[in-house]
Amino acid sequence: MAAKSKSDKIVAIEERYQLATYKKMPVVAERGEGVWLFTSDGGRYLDLYGGHAVAGTGHCHPHVVSAIKNQADQLLFYSNLVYSEARAHAAEKLVSIAPESLTKAFFCNSGTEANENAMRMARMATGRENVITFGGGFHGRTADAISATFLGKYREIGKPNVPGHLKADFGDIETVRAVADESVAAIMLEPIQSMAGIKMAEPSFYRALRELCDERGIVLIYDEVQTGVGRTGEWFFAGSDAGDGVVPDIVTLAKALGSGIPVGACLVTEKISSQIKENDLGTTFGGGMMAMAAVTATLEAIENDGMLANVREVEAHLRARLKEVEQVVAVHGKGFLLGLEFADKAKPTHEALLEEKVITGTSSDPRVLRLLPPLCLQKDQIDLFVDTLGKVFAQS
Ligand SMILES: Cc1ncc(COP(=O)(O)O)c(C=O)c1O
Repeated sequence: MAAKSKSDKIVAIEERYQLATYKKMPVVAERGEGVWLFTSDGGRYLDLYGGHAVAGTGHCHPHVVSAIKNQADQLLFYSNLVYSEARAHAAEKLVSIAPESLTKAFFCNSGTEANENAMRMARMATGRENVITFGGGFHGRTADAISATFLGKYREIGKPNVPGHLKADFGDIETVRAVADESVAAIMLEPIQSMAGIKMAEPSFYRALRELCDERGIVLIYDEVQTGVGRTGEWFFAGSDAGDGVVPDIVTLAKALGSGIPVGACLVTEKISSQIKENDLGTTFGGGMMAMAAVTATLEAIENDGMLANVREVEAHLRARLKEVEQVVAVHGKGFLLGLEFADKAKPTHEALLEEKVITGTSSDPRVLRLLPPLCLQKDQIDLFVDTLGKVFAQS
């Protein structure tokens, strides 16, 4: 019998001891560099899924790695009961790149936690209970966030659901108006719905939401867990032209914010922050030094390397090249949050690309393949992807 490879052994151990909650790709990740992921059996993959939209700065960006190493030598952790230079810098830097009206940061550990805290702040600030979210939106898996998630079976998984959640149709302001009565504390949305298959609304929809919120005293929350931190070629969807310049009252962030060190955040206006008192919100690990060092270094790396401009330029190149691929009937999204719509199911293409060592993502729309690559992806890597896509279709 042939000896088991290192990869086979790792797979066997993980299958044996880890709860099987994810359908895994047959990839044993060992090392990363920029857009490349190296496996323990010597393979090299072009990572257009960016480690689940987390590797915004690319895998192991040297500036981020060095900041984390330096911080690890200094102090791993102390909570919000003390001040810290790492936290002061991260909060200042994050607020400095945010739209002007978002003046304070609350730090937590994940996207779902950021959304839970955003909804809680809205309820505290308005004294109301209900939150409107949208069909197709995904907001996380903890109780309140999963109850706000009207996508596929997620809400069902979270039963019994938390009360206080209302549903409207994404892109249709009349359905929002119909439920936005005086019981409503917040309207929360993914400004580009990612898991749903990269769905965007018209700029006028975001403007209409802002006007409705202002008119009825409702807090507007953008869940920018995926769209934030440069992914659309802007720092945030909030304030961007694609959303008619609309700035919400709260922006939630996670994923790419720490380049892989778990961290989430809420950015809030003065009006909201003035309603939040000591002990209203909290979490032991939020604002810890390792996460804070990662946040500052992540934002600096994006800035120093001109990644926002890179995203816009390389997106244009990708869109132009994809015109050559007749099986791609539409390209949805913005920047490096893109959905390639095929005439047929996307899954076989996702699998065939993986065979060719290109990692992409699927979505809950069976015809849409998702790309969430690192913001440092280059044009020649796009060429490699499009050529591989052509090859895969030629073989099928
Ligand atoms: C838009 C959006 N919001 C919230 C979440 C939840 O984030 P986390 O998995 O960090 O809790 C996700 C995760 O995929 C997401 O895509």
